[in-house]
This record gives sequence, C-alpha cells and structure tokens, in this order.
Amino acid sequence: MSTPVQEPKVYLPPQELVKSAHISGLEAYQRLVAEAQQDYTGYWARLAREFVTWQTPFTQVLNERDAPFFKWFEDGRLNVSYNCLDVNVERGLGDKTAIIFETDDGQVTRVTYRELLARTCQMANALRSRGIQKGDRVVIYMPMSVEGVVAMQACARIGATHSVVFGGFSAQSLRDRIQDAGAVAVITADEQLRGGKQLPLKAIVDEALSLGGCDTIRDVVVYRRTGGNVGFNAPRDKWLHELLDGQPDRCEPAWVEAEHPLFLLYTSGSTGKPKGVQHSSAGYLLHAALTTKWTFDLKPDDVFWCTADIGWVTGHTYIAYGPLANGGTQVMFEGVPTYPDAGRFWKMIQNHRVTIFYTAPTAIRSLIKAAEANPDVHPKRYDLTSLRILGSVGEPINPAAWEWYHANVGGGRCPIVDTFWQTETGGHMITPLPGATPLVPGSCTLPFPGIVADVVDETGKDVPWGQGGILVVKRPWPAMIRTIWGDPERYKKSYYPADFQGKYYLAGDGAIRDAKTGYFTITGRIDDVLNVSGHRMGTMEIESALVSHTELVAEAAVVGRPDDTTGEAICAFVVLKRPRPTGEEAKQIAKALRDWVGKEIGPIAKPKDIRFGDNLPKTRSGKIMRRLLRSIARGEAITQDTSTLENPAILEQLSQTN
Ligand code: WT7
Repeated sequence: MSTPVQEPKVYLPPQELVKSAHISGLEAYQRLVAEAQQDYTGYWARLAREFVTWQTPFTQVLNERDAPFFKWFEDGRLNVSYNCLDVNVERGLGDKTAIIFETDDGQVTRVTYRELLARTCQMANALRSRGIQKGDRVVIYMPMSVEGVVAMQACARIGATHSVVFGGFSAQSLRDRIQDAGAVAVITADEQLRGGKQLPLKAIVDEALSLGGCDTIRDVVVYRRTGGNVGFNAPRDKWLHELLDGQPDRCEPAWVEAEHPLFLLYTSGSTGKPKGVQHSSAGYLLHAALTTKWTFDLKPDDVFWCTADIGWVTGHTYIAYGPLANGGTQVMFEGVPTYPDAGRFWKMIQNHRVTIFYTAPTAIRSLIKAAEANPDVHPKRYDLTSLRILGSVGEPINPAAWEWYHANVGGGRCPIVDTFWQTETGGHMITPLPGATPLVPGSCTLPFPGIVADVVDETGKDVPWGQGGILVVKRPWPAMIRTIWGDPERYKKSYYPADFQGKYYLAGDGAIRDAKTGYFTITGRIDDVLNVSGHRMGTMEIESALVSHTELVAEAAVVGRPDDTTGEAICAFVVLKRPRPTGEEAKQIAKALRDWVGKEIGPIAKPKDIRFGDNLPKTRSGKIMRRLLRSIARGEAITQDTSTLENPAILEQLSQTN
C-alpha cells in the first residue's frame, strides 16, 4: 500500500498585488518567458536598453564565439556609478533618501542621492589622487557603512575593479585575496562595531600585509569608524577623511566597455583555493537593476531592506547596486540581529516602516528560537504592518521556517520570494515574482524570465519532472560570471565541464522539478561545498587549514551534517601526530584546532564537531570514504557497503563521541 501523497500548500499572490505589481499575474510572467524563448537576444537587448543608461549604445548583443567566455553588449560603453547615482539626480530624485543607515548602537543617518553622488565623487577623486586607475584592483575590507557602499561606487566610477573581502575573514584569507587579485590598494576601517563589541579591521590588514606577497599594495586607506587605537605605517597608510579633504564633489566617470570587470568576489569551490569570481559591468548592472525591480516589485515609495553584508554577493547586488540603480530607498544596518536583543530586526522594520525585507533562513531560524524563548522579542510585539513583501536567500528555507516567517513577520499577507542564485550568477536565477507566482513553501518556484534553468542527468540529458538531477542553465545570461580571475581553465572546468559537452552552466546544486507544476526545489550541493548559515565553505579549504597545523595534525577530512539553525554544520575528523586523545585532552585539542581554523580562514569556518581517530576510513587504494564519514557525522547507522574498506574497525571508533 502506498501512503497518500499530501498536496503541498499553495499561497496565491494577494489580489491587490496582482493588480499593481510590475509583473502582474502569471500570464504576464508567461508572456515574458515566451518573449525570451522566441527571441532570446532580442529580449535581453530590449531590457538592456530600458534598464541601463549607455554612453555609447551597443549594437552587438551576445557574442558566443569564444564560448564559454561569453560577451554581452560588447561594443556598448557605460559607467555603473553614473547609472546608480547621476541618473537618479538627473531624474529629479536628488533629494530622495537613498540610504537610511542605522549603526550598531541605534543611531540613524539618512543620505540622499545628491549626497551619495557627491561623496562617491570625492572618494573617486581621492582614489585617483593616489594614482588608482581604470583596471586596477582595489580590496575593500570595511564594516557595513555608507562609506563601504561609497567605496564600491567610487571604484566603479573610475573603472577600478573592487574586491570586497568580508570583515570576518582572517589575515591569512585577506592576504591570499590581495595577492591573487594583485590589488594596488586596500580600503579599510580602524575597527568595526558589532553587537556592542569593537572588532579590529586595520590590525588585520597590517597582519595580512606582514605575511608577505602583497608587494602590489601601495596604499592603505583607513576610514575612522570607532576611533580605536590603530598602528599607522606612513606613508603607506592614509586616513580617509584626510584624503577626502578638499576633494571636489564632482568627478567625470570613466566610461568603460560593457565587459569591463566591475568586481571580483572570492568564493569557495571544491578545491582548497578560493576562486575570484569576475563580474562584468553592463550585464551585471542590468540583472541587478532588473531583478531588484521585478523580484521585489520595487516601487518609488518602498523602503527596501536587505540584511546581507556587503562582503557577500547579496550585499553587492541588493545593497550596493540594485536598489540604487532603481532610485530606491533602502535601510542599511551595521549591527547584528541579536543586539541589543533578538527583536532588533522587527524594531527596525517598525521604526523605518520597511516595506520589503530580504534576509536569510539561518537568521529566521535563530530568531524563531529566540522568540520562542522570550515573548518580548516575538515579531508579534512589533508593528510590522508596513511590510508587503518578504524575501529569503542563501540556502533552502525549510517549510516550517517559511510558514513562521509568513505568519509572524508577514502577518499572513506578504508573499515570500525564495530566491535561488549564487555568487557566480550575479543575481536571482530561480525565484517567484510576488504579483505573479503562486508560492509553495520550500520551493524557489520558477526561473526568472529569460533564465533557462533545467534539471539533467550526469550525461546532460533532461530528466523528467518529478525526478531529481543536476541543476543547469542552458543559455548564457547577461549577469553570469565571466571567468575566474587568473584561472580561465578552472572557470571552464568548474562551470562548463566536458560531461555536458561544455554546453550547460553547472550550478553545483542538485534539484528536482515538481511533476505537475515544474516548480524547482533545490536539493543541496553536489560538490564538496558546504552551506553554513548561508555562507559557502569548501570542505577542502577547511581540511587544508587543519593539516597546515603541521605540529599536531597528520590528516583531516571534513564533511557536513544537517543543523537546525545553521542549515549545515562543519564536522572534522582528525588524525593527530600523537595518540588519539580522549576526555578533557580531546576537548582542549579540539578547541585549539577550532581557533587555528578561525585564524587561518575566519570564525565562520570553525568546525562545530571535531572527532579524533587513529585513522580515517579508506579504500584499499587509499581514498577517504567520505560518504561513511557523512553517516557518522549525522549519527546514522552505517548501512552502506563497507567491503572495499581497508580498516572497517575505524568506523566503530569514529562513531564514539570523544
Ligand atoms: C549557493 C550559493 C545567493 C547569494 C548568497 C549565497 C545555495 C542560495 C538558495 C535558495 C536553496 C540556495 C545554493 C547555491 N542557495 N540560495 N534560495 N534555495 N539554496 O551565494 O555563497 O554563492 O552560495 O547557496 O547551494 O549554490 P553563494
């Protein structure tokens, strides 16, 4: 007897939204999909003319001659910062608030488009005064701040390629990125303020540069945020306010080619070394502007709030570029969701009358826990009636968290857009449109109009709906990754592998389409990449950090296991160069190794579980059997075939918690 299949719950878009949305009704969505199907390049060309202001209009749309190194709008010229700032001022939005910035300790400042343009120009002039030019790479290691956005926009204005490094990365990680990018300058702050604590930034830059290999760096520009004591190394180091002093508030933008690299952003892959994902100017800007408008139904009166950090791609596309390219008003937040208490997000939504709220499932899950433990921080205690649309990003949102978010934050009236995308895709790929798409909790629903996503098997053949497989994108799209900085071969191998005859973009995720509706559900990474609190971590990267502790560690293997709050948790199996520790000693060594990984990569990479063994489960040819380790990490009984295992007794040992 088969058990009856429960029909998934469906949430239709609210009638009012169907009437008023930019993309109103499913038919409107389908018309766009059909338009793209009939004339793919015509569709994107139409939008590129509508959403981007060109200095020199393009005549070529897509160039596939050097596939998979695709080029979009190749002969057009533009400036991204001009599109985000000047265009809005010229349209009469000079006095409109661009950014409502709230500090960790609750101080609020508002910045208009006119001011943001002036500050960006001054910063751009300051960078030019240091000899920074079009094509130079600039690393930005900054806290969440208006200055952080201004730094990104200023780079864009002069055609310098920025590479923002998240403020939680260690000196070592920062050094690796500076070195790989060959950056000429670092823009940083004295310290950052998060959750009432002052955390170092400049000191970490100093340490990174002292590790060597950063000879390309000529300038370190320091924004004074906390006033904390920092070492100053003249003439290399300069205070930002001193550099800005007397700089004109106008700056002629550098008109760059459409393909000019706007930014690099380092992300984890299946091998040890992070990859510098290179994005273009025009194609990226188009998708940032377009998806911000359609996915969030952004209107002139909206107050948009994306809670991501500018150190991640979400903070690039949906803070630094997308909302500004639309002349929108957005909230930007320096702090953390749990300070001074776990009601902070709800209080800020209430105070700023936020209408569109975009956050990560991991934040929602931890705020659910907090609200259950303390009714004072429950969203029901706050006036959240300003909200009209909610969003989710970074990892799958489990249906229970979806329902809670919908009922308690959205008051049952706000559609949730569960946006699937990646650092490499530049913007949303599979997502509901709030006035068009019926929602099913746990599904990111349908591809954004013009994105040809599908599910195939290992040979690249389509799998029928209802059957799981590999998520691919069958046509290049304007905002896609252009290459991996300095490693075009790795770009080809990672994203256009020979398995699919180099035809399809491989996302690295598994997916399944609903048998009836074709809706997508992402089933998780199919490579050695973990997703911890929405942060991407390579298992190999953590393994190499562990084994770089040559005094203690002989061998290490890292796998993921499900975690209620963080989505996935990092589990390390470690063989030491000394006898396997137990009890108190095991705890101490585990702590030392966690701290070590924190120093090597950053606190986000610290393994939650560390287990010690005399050995690791290996095949006779010496290959570590990770699937067995995955079962052990989950606390599951081992049901897999272990006949090829050299040392079966090790499973028993590793299954014991030390
Ligand atoms: C990976 C990309 C998207 C920007 C932030 C993360 C996972 C992302 C979803 C979603 C299920 C998701 C995928 C993807 N992911 N969004 N809505 N549903 N999974 O960017 O660090 O490049 O990570 O995050 O596994 O491949 P990223």
